[in-house]
Amino acid sequence: MKVAGKLAAEQLEMIHAYIEPGISTGELDRICHEYTVQVQNAIPAPLNYKGFPKSICTSVNHVVCHGIPSDKKILKNGDIVNVDITVIKDGYHGDTSQTFLVGKCSVLAERLVRVTQECLYKGIAAVKPGNSLGDIGHAIQIHAEKNQYSIVREYCGHGTGAIFHEEPQVLHYGNPGTGLILEAGMTFTIEPMINAGKRHVRLLPDQWTVVTKDHKLTAQWEHTILVTETGFKILTLRADETITRCS
Ligand code: MF3
Ligand code: CO
Ligand code: CO
Repeated sequence: MKVAGKLAAEQLEMIHAYIEPGISTGELDRICHEYTVQVQNAIPAPLNYKGFPKSICTSVNHVVCHGIPSDKKILKNGDIVNVDITVIKDGYHGDTSQTFLVGKCSVLAERLVRVTQECLYKGIAAVKPGNSLGDIGHAIQIHAEKNQYSIVREYCGHGTGAIFHEEPQVLHYGNPGTGLILEAGMTFTIEPMINAGKRHVRLLPDQWTVVTKDHKLTAQWEHTILVTETGFKILTLRADETITRCS
C-alpha cells in the first residue's frame, strides 16, 4: 500500500507541470497512462474499471467527479481541474486526487479549492484508533459549512487495498462518535467533494460524468490513509504537503 500510494502521489507531482491553458484532458490522460505503464511499471486502475474508458479522471469546473478525459476538452485560463489518479502496484491500490488552478483563477475559485483541501486535512486529522468514521465526516462538514459551502452526499471515500472500492463508505458529513470505530491497520480514502452552490448533483448520459445541478463550481481533494497506532499515515503524501501526523 505504501509503494502504491507513493507512485500515485508521484504521478500527481509529475502531471502538475503539464497543467496549463491549451492542454487537453485527453493529453493529460495519455501522459499519465504512459508514465504509469512505462515508468512506474504499474497499472492504471480506472482503465476499463466497470467500463470506464480512460486511465485517469479529469473533472473541470462544475464537474464533480469521474470526468472522462477528451482531446476536445481544452483547459483554459481560469478553469479548475481535478486530476484523480489510481494506480495498482503489486496488487494494491493507491488513490489520490488534487484540484489544480489553470492559469489565473478568480478569488472565488481559489478560495473553494483551498477550503476543500483544508476539509480533506481536517478529516485526516480526525483519524486515530478509537475515533469513528462520523468524527471524520463531522470535521469535514463543520469546515465546509463554516465557509458557506455544501457537501456532495452521493459519492464518498472508501476502503481500498487489494480491491479499488470496498467497505467502509467514508462519508464527508456526519455526527461525532457515530459509525465504524477506527482501528490500526485500516486503509481507506477521504475525498471530499465541496460545492460553491447547492449540494445536488446530476449524472450525465455518458453514465460517468457527475456535475453540479446548478452548474456552480465544485472541487475535490483525495488521499489514501492508513490508520496507525498513534494516528494516521498519508500513503499518498506529496512533497508539497506539510501535514504528516495527527495533531
Ligand atoms: N478514483 C476514483 C475514486 O476516488 C474512482 C474512479 S472510478 C472510475 O474513487 F472508474 F471513474 F475511474
Ligand atoms: Co477514491
Ligand atoms: Co480517486
